[in-house]
Amino acid sequence: MTTISEQDITVEKTQNSKLKDTDFNNLPFGKVFSDHMLISRYKEGSWSIPEVVPYQPITLDPSAKIFHYGQSVFEGMKAYKDSNNDIYLFRPLENCKRLNISSKRLAIPEIPESYFMEGLKKLLKVDQDWIPTTSGSALYIRPFVFASGNGFHASPANEYIFIIATAPSGAYFSGKVTVAIEEKYSRSANGGVGYAKAGGNYAGQFYPTQLAIDKGYNQVIWTDDTTHEYIEEAGAMNIFVRINDTLITAPTSDRILDGITRKSILEIAKKEGIDVNVRRISVKEIVEAAKNGSLKEMFGSGTAAVISPISGFGYKNKDYTLPELDDSYASKLKTLITDIQYNRSEDPFNWRA
Ligand code: COI
Repeated sequence: MTTISEQDITVEKTQNSKLKDTDFNNLPFGKVFSDHMLISRYKEGSWSIPEVVPYQPITLDPSAKIFHYGQSVFEGMKAYKDSNNDIYLFRPLENCKRLNISSKRLAIPEIPESYFMEGLKKLLKVDQDWIPTTSGSALYIRPFVFASGNGFHASPANEYIFIIATAPSGAYFSGKVTVAIEEKYSRSANGGVGYAKAGGNYAGQFYPTQLAIDKGYNQVIWTDDTTHEYIEEAGAMNIFVRINDTLITAPTSDRILDGITRKSILEIAKKEGIDVNVRRISVKEIVEAAKNGSLKEMFGSGTAAVISPISGFGYKNKDYTLPELDDSYASKLKTLITDIQYNRSEDPFNWRA
């Protein structure tokens, strides 16, 4: 059975709701978890009908392949509530498709679309009171799949678990971020898994990011693995650069995540008449633009961080500060995209679901 409807999904409600103990006015990012989760298990060649169950730990064998060979992929999404308490998702099918693109690259069986979409809808109905209404907050949704099957043989597992867990969350970053342009380490390579949302892509970033933090920066701007001359992503986000009035971002490739916020920003910016350029951007061009004053803005984009302005960058032991703009593209585009997400405006692209 590969197509299900919401009615096929059973619900086991928690006896110990944490809802009343949660301070919705003071939400960190991704640290408080809602009462329930969705779970489906892959065994003998098929996924079980997903179930909504109380949020709980899972038991795994020490030889589960996730621990040894890192077969794991995930997604990041949000559910939003408008002023009438109606609930919205933003382009959820894109996340479902991307999860399966990531899974395919990691030799993980794909999850049927209806399991993901109907399961998510059911989970959100059960946990709708967990979707925050406080400004700037949303219910962060984390769908993920990992290898639960056993064995030290370096080959794909024969069992997997798909979970959707959610966390009412505030902002990912508290203010503007400073970044170090990476001169040595790489996030991804041609032919690799950079385009997939594989857990290991993030693990590989932690050490170089810590080196940057030790030098006083918040994040790393990843550069291409062969020359380190072109910028590709910013931390766990896609990156945009504004030179004069042109908004530039690197094209997606084997090495760059096809960010849903990234591609939505591109469409909104074009509709607003902003000159948009999807092309490679060299570090040299950015440094020169910073020196001659044509570098107006840089910002990261992602589901968690939405649009995160960068206040300055470091490169080859020199720091460059970006100007403070009253009419930044970052704040204009952030308003436009969040207005669509929170149902505060028309939805000309039909993205709300
Ligand atoms: C997101 O933006 O949702 C992501 O997946 C990034 C994550 C590492 C917080």
